[in-house]
Amino acid sequence: MDERIERIKEIVREKLSSSAHDLEHTFRVFKLARMLAKEEEDVNMEVVELASLLHDIARVREDSDKTGETNHAKLGAVWAEKILTELGYPDEIVKNVKHCIETHRYRGDSIPKTKEAKILFDADKLDAIGAVGIARAYMIAGERGERIYLDEDINEYIKNNLVNGKINGRIKDISKHAPNIEFETKFKYIPDRLFTEKAKEIAKERIAFMELFFERLRKEILGEQ
Ligand SMILES: [Fe+2]
Ligand SMILES: [Fe+2]
Repeated sequence: MDERIERIKEIVREKLSSSAHDLEHTFRVFKLARMLAKEEEDVNMEVVELASLLHDIARVREDSDKTGETNHAKLGAVWAEKILTELGYPDEIVKNVKHCIETHRYRGDSIPKTKEAKILFDADKLDAIGAVGIARAYMIAGERGERIYLDEDINEYIKNNLVNGKINGRIKDISKHAPNIEFETKFKYIPDRLFTEKAKEIAKERIAFMELFFERLRKEILGEQ
């Protein structure tokens, strides 16, 4: 069994070889998901491990698809099914892993139904917040030419820079975006979206840390501290 997991890790490394972010994120999610799974009863740990390792396997494909039509959750589920079937995993395991991957997106419309899918969803979102969340947000901000901090009323920002003036609308002008805005429009709401008690507890603590960080950043930027 360990041999098959090692083979899957190799496949994931290959598929995500051009994206250090995605690869490192995958291995953090793997650890977080295992930790969350240990807090729950009646969880199939093998499904949790396989699903977390494979969940973003199609991420590079989605990012390089200029048509914007590739959905890495849907495509990743298809790829995972093929990989696991070839490695001889039983149908029941394959089916559940597929469901976990299909439903792991924050903005997707398919909802995690199995315990293992809920755990993957939670672990994936936890990795977007806390100190890791700040570090990731700034890496992305650097790549996209965002600003360090945007001192703007959040309702004004939503009205002016998000499509349809809605909090979940796409960003119109990325140069008018910044990680503190991402925090106000997205990260802050993550704890409410989680399923497992342990993840909610960790998420609240991670969000409190981010709040302190962005408040301190605001003061430094405005020359108040
Ligand atoms: Fe993903
Ligand atoms: Fe992910």
